[in-house]
Amino acid sequence: MNLIQSILARAKANRQRIVLPEGTEERTLIAANRLLADEIADILLIGNPSEIQNSVASMHLEHIGKATIIDPYNHPRKADYTDLLYQLRQKKGMTPEKAAKLVENPLYLACLMIKAGDADGEIAGAFNTTGDVLRPALQIIKTAPGMSSVSGAYLMFTKASHYGENGLLVFADCAVIPNPTAAELAEIAVATAHTTRAIAGFEPRVAMLSFSTKGSASHPMVDKVVEATRLAKEMAPDIQIDGELQTDAALVSEIGARKAPGSAIAGKANVLVFPSLEVGNIAYKLVERLGGAEAVGPILQGMAAPVNDLSRGCSSDDIYKMVAISANQAIGLKSK
Ligand code: ACO
Repeated sequence: MNLIQSILARAKANRQRIVLPEGTEERTLIAANRLLADEIADILLIGNPSEIQNSVASMHLEHIGKATIIDPYNHPRKADYTDLLYQLRQKKGMTPEKAAKLVENPLYLACLMIKAGDADGEIAGAFNTTGDVLRPALQIIKTAPGMSSVSGAYLMFTKASHYGENGLLVFADCAVIPNPTAAELAEIAVATAHTTRAIAGFEPRVAMLSFSTKGSASHPMVDKVVEATRLAKEMAPDIQIDGELQTDAALVSEIGARKAPGSAIAGKANVLVFPSLEVGNIAYKLVERLGGAEAVGPILQGMAAPVNDLSRGCSSDDIYKMVAISANQAIGLKSK
């Protein structure tokens, strides 16, 4: 059984309620139909019911009838969610009038459903931007206990089987924090190690990447990675982390031995932590497009419940897999 198959099997064995706020979007409907046919998750679709029915009829999606459809303008819990939003955000200037309007926005409604315990996770982003998907989640669901920052990891299924775990590596942060502080970078490293254990299923060996290896260059950007490495080791002494390392020293054993002798990670890294979002986002897309890797994610980590963002170029297959990954995250968070 490959990794995606075991993620699907885990989701199927413990079905979670996943809300899809882009419920009228074509790829989302195709993925929902397949998820319901394969019994991977219980699906809650937010959208205009007659619009959904029309799309379903023209696309012959015979399993959508098993989904729960929520009309954002008219459903029995609307007043409860409006009050919940007002209660949660009144100190930030929320008024009952603003809450009544926002609760009709599917991206806010999905997060309120999770916060109220009516759903276990959310996937969106097939047509909304990352910022629009994340903002309500950060405001309503917030971070998990002990975490203060949310970041995004990718499972990178590369063709280079001699690197990582038979070609599989985990990259972060590729999605959320534009310019992390050293403390945020340390949290990204620890959260990515946990995602690696929970979703990728192997023991993480984390490289904190830089343009310098063990003092070969001096610059404030290098200092940040050195400090983040120190903090991450302090936060999680049970996780193997080392830095600062250049990518070749992290991945290639002969270069690692030469540039960072004695490092337990150099030449053996399977988790790559990038110093900024610019680097992480550009790197994963280069590896995907020029290197022919399959990129699965971003898997958002650090949130109190799973909310996962899609690339707007995603396929229905990406949505299908991300629902299963979110279900695995929900199962993991509930077991803590
Ligand atoms: N972790 C935890 N909480 C956060 C984070 C974070 N990383 N970022 C913001 N927050 C919280 C804030 O503390 C705030 O909480 P509060 O309102 O209760 O005080 C709330 O979220 C809103 O914060 P803002 O700073 O007002 O939100 P902002 O408008 O800056 O949005 C966002 C935050 C959306 C994450 C922003 O940083 C962003 O757009 N990041 C880049 C996303 C992106 O474009 N990624 C690249 C594309 S993704 C891809 O290619 C797959």
